[in-house]
Amino acid sequence: MGYDAFMRSILPWVVLLVAHLLPTALASGGEVESGAELYRDCAACHSKDGGGVTDGSVPAIGGQPAEVVRRQLQRFRSGARTDLRMQHFSNDDHLAGAKAVDAVSRYIAGLRRVTPPAKGSGRELAAGAAEFARSCASCHGPQGRAVESSGIPALAAQHAPYLERKLRDAAAGQNSLGQSHRPIVSRLPPERVAAIADWLSRVTPLD
Ligand code: HEC
Ligand code: HEC
Repeated sequence: MGYDAFMRSILPWVVLLVAHLLPTALASGGEVESGAELYRDCAACHSKDGGGVTDGSVPAIGGQPAEVVRRQLQRFRSGARTDLRMQHFSNDDHLAGAKAVDAVSRYIAGLRRVTPPAKGSGRELAAGAAEFARSCASCHGPQGRAVESSGIPALAAQHAPYLERKLRDAAAGQNSLGQSHRPIVSRLPPERVAAIADWLSRVTPLD
């Protein structure tokens, strides 16, 4: 058999082999699942629009800047922020590496929330606003909007029961907010903490 004839005879096999190996090569390159596909897992708890659950058990995340979501996911993945559910759903089995974390973060940033935030009683809004300005605005900004550069989540339009729970736990020294927020929150009476949460839940997010 001459060289040309030999090449012609093996060509179909070479094509088959490449066709077989190529998808595996692409998959290990990381571009396996899109943000939308990855978010399907998350939607079970955070809901399709990223609106969370109004009883405060699951925070609203839709529309948080991608950098904020990314940082919080990294904190769950490293164990710096503890929550059994989130540590499970953000691990390598669910988000395989930095590209997956990035893809799902950008998808979440693009979500438009339709679930309205759960609010408080509305009785102590002025006190809530004043306390926020005094104790929180230095880091969270005057309106509690996200601070992308430091990965601080938007507090504005978050469910009041979620904010209240995080702050109550922080005052008790529990959870990852504990260390940084304990001295700030533990000196506030519970009704003042509830007032801050109520006021924040009513601040409209920037679109
Ligand atoms: C089993 C339910 C569940 C699933 C599934 C889930 N989460 Fe969560 N998520 C939670 C809970 C509960 C919290 C709040 C934890 C806490 O109290 O600190 C949370 C918190 C978060 C936060 C931090 C929000 C903030 O304001 O600080 C982000 C970001 C987040 N989840 C993203 C995701 C992504 C992305 C996925 C999918 C890959 C996902 N979650 C899947 C329940 C879930
Ligand atoms: C010294 C700066 C600083 C001050 C003051 C501060 N915070 Fe924070 N806060 C942060 C940072 C940084 C984060 C993000 C990192 C984290 O989740 O621990 C955060 C996160 C939070 C979260 C979690 C948001 C989420 O969606 O999970 C809540 C709730 C919160 N702060 C409420 C408050 C309130 C209310 C006050 C005032 C009583 C306050 N903080 C004062 C820096 C601060």
